[in-house]
Amino acid sequence: MKRALFLVALAACGGEAADRSTAAVAAADASYPAVREYDRGHFRIGATPTKAQLVAWNTDIGPEGAELPEGRGSAREGAQVFAQQCAACHGAEGQGLEPLYPLLISRDPRGEGFDFASDPKIPRSIGNYWPHATTLYDYIRRAMPLYTPGSLSADETYAVVAYLLAANKVIPDTATLDATALRAVQMPARDKFVPDDRSPTRP
Ligand code: HEC
Repeated sequence: MKRALFLVALAACGGEAADRSTAAVAAADASYPAVREYDRGHFRIGATPTKAQLVAWNTDIGPEGAELPEGRGSAREGAQVFAQQCAACHGAEGQGLEPLYPLLISRDPRGEGFDFASDPKIPRSIGNYWPHATTLYDYIRRAMPLYTPGSLSADETYAVVAYLLAANKVIPDTATLDATALRAVQMPARDKFVPDDRSPTRP
């Protein structure tokens, strides 16, 4: 008898929970127009972007580096940018802070054979894994520092890229990079990747 009562009580609770979640869904539905209104104002969803907005967003740089901007920066200057704007997350030596923040600097000898598939623990870094130096510039300019992406000037970006490439033993510590010099950098892992030409939309 006690057991039966318990079951009845459980069933009642279940019903209440279901009612509450239905109410929550209804409330969320009702707030959608407000959310959409916010999106329209904040992200201007539904508005045609102006030419200036398109230009401001169109900053990606492909592997060839054709879109690299003017500017220059040395590895030495980049060490300062790194210490001030990157080390808090990526570690003073670029060693990363696992599990959240990837390592940026390493030429762990185990990685030089590019045997990452058979040992996933081998650290993959700019020095042993990235195939292009140009896309390092692209990524850092668009995505880093994590909370203030897009805040680095072209010179600061060249400098921190030079610092990272030098620290990964790809270019000398004394190097200065501009668009031409960055395009000429050969990454150690350059030939470990092949272009993915499987897409039927590619010419
Ligand atoms: C607030 C923390 C934070 C700061 C500050 C920060 N980063 Fe990052 N960075 C991250 C996180 C998190 C990721 C991983 C992002 C992901 O995988 O989507 C990352 C990824 C990267 C990567 C890609 C690594 C790889 O091999 O995949 C590079 C390069 C990088 N950051 C460079 C920088 C540089 C240069 C700066 C300073 C100008 C910087 N980051 C500042 C948190 C940070």
